[in-house]
Amino acid sequence: MKIQRVHALWFSPVGHTKEVVTRAARLLAEPLSCAVEEDDFTLPAARTEKRVFAADEAVVFGVPTYAGRVPNKLLPFVQTLFEGNGTPAIAVVTFGNRSYDESLKELCLELNTHGFWTLAAGAFVCEHVMSEGLGAGRPDEADMEKLREMTLAAAKVMRDTKDGEVPPPVRVSDSEEVGPYYRPLEENGEAANFLKAKPVTDLAGCIHCGVCAEVCPFGSIDPGDVSQTPGICVKCHACVRKCPVSVKFFDDPSLRSHIKMLEREFARPAQSKIFVCDHGNDSAR
Ligand SMILES: Cc1cc2nc3c(=O)[nH]c(=O)nc-3n(C[C@H](O)[C@H](O)[C@H](O)COP(=O)(O)O)c2cc1C
Repeated sequence: MKIQRVHALWFSPVGHTKEVVTRAARLLAEPLSCAVEEDDFTLPAARTEKRVFAADEAVVFGVPTYAGRVPNKLLPFVQTLFEGNGTPAIAVVTFGNRSYDESLKELCLELNTHGFWTLAAGAFVCEHVMSEGLGAGRPDEADMEKLREMTLAAAKVMRDTKDGEVPPPVRVSDSEEVGPYYRPLEENGEAANFLKAKPVTDLAGCIHCGVCAEVCPFGSIDPGDVSQTPGICVKCHACVRKCPVSVKFFDDPSLRSHIKMLEREFARPAQSKIFVCDHGNDSAR
């Protein structure tokens, strides 16, 4: 099949997923000799219009892993805003050195359900947005080599597939069932509960620039009084990481204890993983 355009699509509050998706899209477009169109659906204003893709376009679609799954507050948008027509797709998730658990499988299933042909998929280790020590320096050169390998193999599958043909999608797991959300623990092994945690602001240092309200992917921070977060908070850490004077943080004891547990238990380097469909002879690398 001849691909006319590659679309890079991402939800990326802090920016790691954007980095991986845009790199993958450029690497895919090169051997296909076509242009890349970037489409960032992180902010609410970018999640109002439906996108429909043709069979001669390709998409690289990326989200971060939250609690081992596709972020649950984002899922309805993934399910309603994007429609393929036998459109080849590469599913990408990033994760913060613990595990991607079910997120890649869930994303593949959603894309396949909505008209895409997911022929390759990859889970890439990135820095954990809650801790600079977890996944520090990732993705590294070895991760990028996997990204290159995945996109080159995907380009070959697209070139080798006849127009109108939609072979079976890539399998990233033996089971088709999406497992439960990861249940976070505190340092002492007890269940953590930080669902209601919201960011706090050190008003003494706040310069009221409004960046935190602008970058919140659910528009939850009051731009008139940025110390207030009346809307939902998914703990994405965009406001914390993008505050130019570092006055935004989470003080919730359960969340802080969970982060310490992650730092203690998941210090080892996790592996990025890629999967490519090979007309029935799928391979995991
Ligand atoms: C609410 C939340 C839950 C997360 N859950 C996981 C997880 O289950 N496993 C993991 O390894 N990383 C987890 N992470 C880390 C992110 O997946 C990782 O840092 C990701 O690259 C962030 O993407 P972004 O920079 O595009 O926002 C979580 C981060 C957040 C904010």
